[in-house]
Amino acid sequence: MCGIVAYVGHRQAHEVIIKGLKRLEYRGYDSTGIALLNGGLNVYKKKGKVAELESFLKGQNLNSKIGMGHTRWATHGEPNDENAHPHYSATKNLAIIHNGIIENYSALKQDLLRKGHTFLSETDTEVFIHFIEDIKNNENCSIEEAVRLALTKVVGAYAIVVMSFEDPSLLIAARKGSPLVLGVGRGEFFMASDATPIIEYTNEVIYLNDQEIAIINDGTLTIKDTSNLPLTPYVQTVDLELEAIEKGGYEHFMLKEIFEQPRSIKDCMRGRLDSVSGRLILGGLREYVNKLVQADRIIIIACGTSWHAGLVAEYFFEEFCRVPVEVEYASEFRYRNPIIREGDVVIAISQSGETADTLAAIELAKSKGAIIFGVCNVVGSSIPRATHAGAYTHAGPEIGVASTKAFTAQLTVLNMIALIVAEKKGTITEQKFNEILVEMENLPAKVEKVLALNEQIKYIANEFKDSTNFIYLGRGYNFPVALEGALKLKEISYIHAEGYPAAEMKHGPIALIDEDMPVAFIATKDSSYEKVVSNIQEVKARKGRVISIVTEGDTQIPKMSEFVIEVPHVTESLMPLISVVPLQLLSYHIAVMRGCNVDQPRNLAKSVTVE
Ligand code: G6P
Repeated sequence: MCGIVAYVGHRQAHEVIIKGLKRLEYRGYDSTGIALLNGGLNVYKKKGKVAELESFLKGQNLNSKIGMGHTRWATHGEPNDENAHPHYSATKNLAIIHNGIIENYSALKQDLLRKGHTFLSETDTEVFIHFIEDIKNNENCSIEEAVRLALTKVVGAYAIVVMSFEDPSLLIAARKGSPLVLGVGRGEFFMASDATPIIEYTNEVIYLNDQEIAIINDGTLTIKDTSNLPLTPYVQTVDLELEAIEKGGYEHFMLKEIFEQPRSIKDCMRGRLDSVSGRLILGGLREYVNKLVQADRIIIIACGTSWHAGLVAEYFFEEFCRVPVEVEYASEFRYRNPIIREGDVVIAISQSGETADTLAAIELAKSKGAIIFGVCNVVGSSIPRATHAGAYTHAGPEIGVASTKAFTAQLTVLNMIALIVAEKKGTITEQKFNEILVEMENLPAKVEKVLALNEQIKYIANEFKDSTNFIYLGRGYNFPVALEGALKLKEISYIHAEGYPAAEMKHGPIALIDEDMPVAFIATKDSSYEKVVSNIQEVKARKGRVISIVTEGDTQIPKMSEFVIEVPHVTESLMPLISVVPLQLLSYHIAVMRGCNVDQPRNLAKSVTVE
């Protein structure tokens, strides 16, 4: 995750770039930099957020009508001034910004070192620009051609922009795997990781495809592919107001993403599920689906919220497919010398597709001969590339650091995988299979009903905003929801919270209950309902403050609870997709009321690419 932005035209480039970088900061916020042609090809870069670069630039002569900038989330090399982008070539005649990972950079670097190159940073990106310049010198070709030739030789993912001291109106961009959008204005061009830095100036955009190169020279745009085939630019109109593609009128990305869930769940099922014909297809499972059907054991690996989705999936697979499941923290799995037997299948879950521990766990499992399925949100990210097969969650970009819509989309995909496998194995009746398909199609409308409770949840948040602790309890399918509710609160409000299986409470956490302790019960009508009622009584008897999430029409639990949130009825296995939503909103409102930075909580990152 990094953000890139570039400009050439009649405006002051640094103004466009700095503003653009602020919009892309969700993609990484550990260091930033900018390159301008102001007397020379000058690079200014700093560890820290865009605001820090901005103060560093104050008072400097930044007059340039061409430039490019980068906001980094470190992959190769720690976040510091040297590793920040842009990076220079050996002669400093060229500079590059890059989002992605050049996988064969180490081999390229060895070659260049042998030729006498020296490097200022530890990044793959610096190697890339040295490599481009080396080709240019060896082949005695244009810079465009050198970039093209270099792209045919690098392995990995990239969105890049290259600037040249010798060509003051030239910008070269290319992509493979990482996003890149071009904005076409009147006598000016923009490039960025998404449309947010562009939309303020023009709504005419070109989404560059993989393996395409865009060359802007003297105000003319040319697009070709890496095999040198010229392409006709396809200019599209972005039919969105600036506000809509930023936070869509919401105060925070997290709130926007919570409210997007009816749509993201629908997007996740689009073209894959149709209850009328009984059709359920996940194209990405391909020929490997039989490995899942024949699996003797499924091992799920993930981190954070994705790990919670894995816990729910354990219930799906065991209930519907009658196959034993183990859910592992990727970080523990990779260091435990785990036993992988023939017949074991691994499912890796990751929103970003870049989490280092999950990737390493995948590689370990692969080295032991396992077949790996991926459930990821970010298309083209590393995990889908490292797995044998899988399914995307199609939740759209998730920008808030605390995961919300990605979680419900993960549950949707995992439920679909379990149903496909169960149907093929014959471990689910046709009637049950069809019933669940219908229930899944009704999910978006039901989530919408939960979102309508926002004001009520805000009221409850106000009651508990000054709490110092919270307990979340649930059983069965709602136990992982209790964990996820607690995680959401910890992440963004910095309140200590614990999620527990409700029955396990009496083995320890019950000692914490007093009249100041809020206890959120996920107590919907399901097979463990009566048991949860008893657990609520146990908390009440010790004067705990009970907040209950119940199924609409429940008359028993509301009498025992200080606050009640009623959610629509849904079949037990799908309840986590509904019952998690009020908990997302509760944490959100508490965090806002406490003045916390909801979208960029302290110490966290959206995509953890380090161990
Ligand atoms: C970080 C994020 C979490 C996320 C976890 C796993 O900790 O802050 O929101 O759940 O990483 O990320 P992944 O992209 O692999 O799902």
